[in-house]
Amino acid sequence: MTDVEWWRHAVIYQIYPRSFADGNGDGVGDLPGITARLDHLADLGVDALWLSPFYRSPMVDGGYDVADYRDVDPVFGTLQDFDDLLAAAHGKGLRVIVDIVPNHTSSEHPWFREGRRDRYLFADAPNAWQSLFGGPAWTQVEDGSWYLHLFDPAQPDLNWRSPEVRDEFEGILRFWLDRGVDGFRVDVAHGMIKTESGYFDQEEVHDIYRDWRKILDSYPGERMAVAEVFDTTPERVARYVAAGELHQAFNFDFLEAPWESATLRRIIDASIEAAGTVGAPPTWVLSNHDRQRHVTRFGDGVTGLRRARAAALLMLGLPGSAYVYQGEELGLPEVLDLPDEVRVDPQWIRSGGAVTGRDGCRVPLPWSGDAPPFGFGASSWLPMPADWAALTVQAQRADPDSMLNLYRRALHLRQPSGTLTWRPAPAGVLCFESGGLLVAVNLSSSPVPLPATPLLSSSPVNDTLPPDTTAWMPTPPSS
Ligand code: NOJ
Repeated sequence: MTDVEWWRHAVIYQIYPRSFADGNGDGVGDLPGITARLDHLADLGVDALWLSPFYRSPMVDGGYDVADYRDVDPVFGTLQDFDDLLAAAHGKGLRVIVDIVPNHTSSEHPWFREGRRDRYLFADAPNAWQSLFGGPAWTQVEDGSWYLHLFDPAQPDLNWRSPEVRDEFEGILRFWLDRGVDGFRVDVAHGMIKTESGYFDQEEVHDIYRDWRKILDSYPGERMAVAEVFDTTPERVARYVAAGELHQAFNFDFLEAPWESATLRRIIDASIEAAGTVGAPPTWVLSNHDRQRHVTRFGDGVTGLRRARAAALLMLGLPGSAYVYQGEELGLPEVLDLPDEVRVDPQWIRSGGAVTGRDGCRVPLPWSGDAPPFGFGASSWLPMPADWAALTVQAQRADPDSMLNLYRRALHLRQPSGTLTWRPAPAGVLCFESGGLLVAVNLSSSPVPLPATPLLSSSPVNDTLPPDTTAWMPTPPSS
């Protein structure tokens, strides 16, 4: 592991611990389950892991409701299990970043239970703000006052103007940095400061990151942080990764883009430009634990899968850093037909079933065998589709044309790159050079000529590049 700004070009694999691998047979994924499966990730060729929360939590929001930021929830294991995971990952050359949830705690956090109101946002009367999970963002307590929760009522928002809150989170960062983590993913990074005018992207929030950056930089090695900032422009997002603040921010414009060449090109250009103005790397992401899986988003059955394969080679061919959500390397679709009674997402619960919610992208991973739970554990906390036998890691390892082998080959061929140069291409085709590769993506409905013999392609090619296909070629010597 070379240290020099590794995050500038890293491919970071997101683990949603509940659904990755179950080490103790209780049907819920856990830290020992991850440790036991690290070879899958080392072999895949990613550089780092991002672990969604595994802290003590009543699990109202899948662990994004933290009751103790310095301990592992028993369902996921122990602090010793975390240390073992970290050591094993480092031993395989994999860095580890952990999720930090600073906008809100769980209502089971000792501060909230003990009535430390100065550390939360209480008011005599609510304003009109709505929760992102539906319904009002305020809940009334016994004495008639109200507290703010941008998410579930079980996730009270913290008061970041309180010095104790700031100190506590600096202590939490140090706690995990001392254990050896390589960085943090910052949940709702634009939400901590509220003013009269709103709750996202308020100026004062940047003071917090300037303080955090000093802490990160005071540790040996290259510790990093990636910000979750949504509902704003690339220029506003870039302010979180300006000099003296965080290292990366997620690219939700790319994640939300339709499979359409002009829009994708516009987003790619805008992302590279905005990040470039502050000297940060662009990042790319197709799926995460909050969004419908992109195989399903991109179209039905064969079309969705074919486009997801092409999108993977597009994303991994771009300069900067990319995020892979667990299971996308297997081409998992969204599970659309989960029975109502197994759904647990607060989006589903709070909307009375009007919003389907995010359980369908959180179904446990299929590892092996012919029937559910496909080697995930002895059972699985969400039911797995019976027809996932062909999607298991075991089945895909044996198939040279599988999605798993496509990701594997791409990750082994991919070179660090800081630039992109567009090349002329027919309508509906994206063609660019980056990282010593010539990348062509055919988003049109007709085959187009191939400029060179591919090193790798997302679907079979002969002398043309078929629709919904990406090819990686060597860069022409003249360029
Ligand atoms: C963003 C997280 O990704 C999501 O899963 C969570 O529900 C909200 N933040 C609230 O923490």
